[in-house]
Amino acid sequence: MRPLSKLEDLAAAVPREQKNPLTVSVLVDNNADGKKFVPEHGLSILLEVAGRRILFDTGGGESLGPNARRLRIDLNRLTDVVISHSHYDHTGGIPAVLELNPAIRIFAHPELFNPRYSRGEFAPHRQIGLTELSTKALRRHVANIVWTATPTPITEGVWVTGSIPRLNEFEEPGGAFFLDEKCTRPDRIDGDQAIWVQTPKGIVVILGCAHAGVVNTLERIARLTKASRFHAVIGGMHLVRADAERMQFTTDAFNRFQVEIIAPCHCTGQAACDYFHRHLGDRLVEVQAGLKLSF
Ligand SMILES: [Fe+2]
Ligand SMILES: [Fe+2]
Repeated sequence: MRPLSKLEDLAAAVPREQKNPLTVSVLVDNNADGKKFVPEHGLSILLEVAGRRILFDTGGGESLGPNARRLRIDLNRLTDVVISHSHYDHTGGIPAVLELNPAIRIFAHPELFNPRYSRGEFAPHRQIGLTELSTKALRRHVANIVWTATPTPITEGVWVTGSIPRLNEFEEPGGAFFLDEKCTRPDRIDGDQAIWVQTPKGIVVILGCAHAGVVNTLERIARLTKASRFHAVIGGMHLVRADAERMQFTTDAFNRFQVEIIAPCHCTGQAACDYFHRHLGDRLVEVQAGLKLSF
């Protein structure tokens, strides 16, 4: 795995194409050192770009505050919050974020308020969508929501994908997810979405859980931007249940799109990270809460 100090050298070799320098700070992740930063099953990433301070997901609600303080990031001064999908581990911090930033713009898919369940061995099955507190907070701020069924710009060169077509059907959503409490209606998490940013080093893609599939997501953004390559892909890749064929297919896509920095985290799964470690070499970057990258 490539040490972080080499990142800048490698990225500097890429021609300057666009004009929005981007800083990415990982505020919440499953991995953290446990001393300075608190680990939590969830994801939250701050994007500082073009004068905006965009929070992509909010984690489960436990570690966002303490980890932001450690990074000296002021959560009172956010301009936008983007919700990749409504699972609790991405939306638990919403009440605090909206309380601190009552005028913040919220980018969310129209599926936001759908009930969501994960099937366990026995009923009652687990509700894994918005918590009651998050639902209430979002309803109070519903006038601030920019609905993102389709690709939507946050500012120039910074976009939310909206729905991602499932062209590679074998990229299944990655779990026993359902829309009803009895777990009879499968939930494909159709509203799962990502962000892309045009940076001086190329396009940087940020994923939530990638329930839509990593390759589907990259292909969607490539089609929208007419890009044939990406600089970096960062975020949850939800490959816990992926078989060898899917891992190979995903790795082939990283190669085809000449992705230079691949930073899987959150729900990607240890076996998938190990696979990438073996097959992507120096392009793989280890992520934990507190990581900062500049593009
Ligand atoms: Fe997740
Ligand atoms: Fe999820």
